[in-house]
Amino acid sequence: MDSSVKELLQSDQFLQEVTIKGWVRTFRANRFIALNDGSTINNIQCVVDFEHTDEDILKRINTGTAVSIKGTLVESQGKGQKVEIQVSEVEVLGDSDPEEYPIQPKRHSMEFLRENAHLRTRTNTFGAVMRLRSALSFAIHQYFQQNGFYYVNTPIITGSDAEGAGEMFRITTLDAKNPPLTEEGDVDYSQDFFGKETNITVSGQLEAETYAMSLGKVYTFGPTFRAENSNTSRHLAEFWMIEPEVAFMDLDGNMDLAEDFIKYVLKYVLENNREDLEFLEKRLLDEEKTKPQNERSDMSLIEKLHFVIDNNFKRVSYTEAIDILRNSKPNKKKKFNYLIEGWGADLQSEHERFLVEKHFKCPVILFDYPANIKAFYMRLNEDGKTVRAMDILFPGIGEIVGGSQREERLDVLQQKINELGIDEKELWWYTDLRKYGTAVHSGFGLGFERLVMFATGMSNVRDVIPFPRTPQNAEF
Ligand code: 4AD
Ligand code: MG
Repeated sequence: MDSSVKELLQSDQFLQEVTIKGWVRTFRANRFIALNDGSTINNIQCVVDFEHTDEDILKRINTGTAVSIKGTLVESQGKGQKVEIQVSEVEVLGDSDPEEYPIQPKRHSMEFLRENAHLRTRTNTFGAVMRLRSALSFAIHQYFQQNGFYYVNTPIITGSDAEGAGEMFRITTLDAKNPPLTEEGDVDYSQDFFGKETNITVSGQLEAETYAMSLGKVYTFGPTFRAENSNTSRHLAEFWMIEPEVAFMDLDGNMDLAEDFIKYVLKYVLENNREDLEFLEKRLLDEEKTKPQNERSDMSLIEKLHFVIDNNFKRVSYTEAIDILRNSKPNKKKKFNYLIEGWGADLQSEHERFLVEKHFKCPVILFDYPANIKAFYMRLNEDGKTVRAMDILFPGIGEIVGGSQREERLDVLQQKINELGIDEKELWWYTDLRKYGTAVHSGFGLGFERLVMFATGMSNVRDVIPFPRTPQNAEF
């Protein structure tokens, strides 16, 4: 196999003959190729002997060209790199028209790069982000596998829409122009592919619960879909979620698990992805400089990661949080878009960010929310009005985790289902869990892209997933 740029940059086996393939980042003075193959953020310098190289070939070496290079690995004479390749032969594998290639060696706007999402991973920023995304995925599996969890694949197509986590996308093979109708004039889904109305899932939780109640400790890691029309920097219509679910674990255990898990995966990338993080740290510093002084972060990217790993998350009840918010400056000065008037209000992201960024200045776990702003499956507290829910709020991100202890009592669950007008028949298998060997159990969902945002310092969720799906946008 050919060598990778990463291997060669770490090698000290000088004078060895090497073959390497990659894409030209820059070609200077008809002599110096900066070559990148994606294995690392760093390029390897390849020094071409232009006097003995065909002029036609030299002309075809442009930014974006794919080349195969043979040569000798030597200690570099120049500054900025330890090793370089003295090229004996360049073969152009694929030309790239320098007039047309969109990814020039200069700063491009994020918007421009989104429009060129098929090429944007050829930039340093997106290469670094996507390598980190891959490393985080690996660390997530490693964390759970090492701790006795089983990986469960829950269905993407679902017949239940009871989760209530958001608007769903329908799956159908019916003719959109001319669907079969019932006598009442509604679309007759009994004639659809599955013989009923189906959607793509907003969460694997309900199915994961069935596995927790047999395998004990499980997790999902898959795509989820929400048809909310929220065009924000933190919402996607298609995003990846990690959902652990554990039998015999209560809400305190759930908070401990979430905190330990997040710290583990962040530590993993600090230890294994240093170069990409250092690049992104510099990028973030440059971005921060364009902001007004009072909006700049006083911590660098790597400092932020250490800060999360080294400190306990602050655990605060919803009721305490409401008191803090009600008496806060932005509430009194009517600076919040949604003023907090009293207990029961749903928290908006402006409130969450105030708590995390201004008040506590650390990750916060809010727990025991009012029952009526949370999902039907959350365990009711003795007070009869709050549920054993928890959200984890992160600086710059807002909500990164949502979870709860689940209602394990059949009668309480059924009453809730009825109160909310959910069709109990649709959830027969879910309520069965409460009939046969029911037990305390808990879990949470972590939005993968929000984690990647935090770990990379990227400020828009569209820039941490290869091909973002958002309202009015499903290109590529
Ligand atoms: O809080 P949510 O809606 O929780 C659930 O879906 C539960 N069933 C999880 C569980 O208990 N197993 O979503 C969980 C997380 C959020 O905290 C957020 O990080 C992320 O998923 N998330 C989104 N990420 C990107 N785009 C969206 N539209 C998101 N909606 C939620
Ligand atoms: Mg939530």
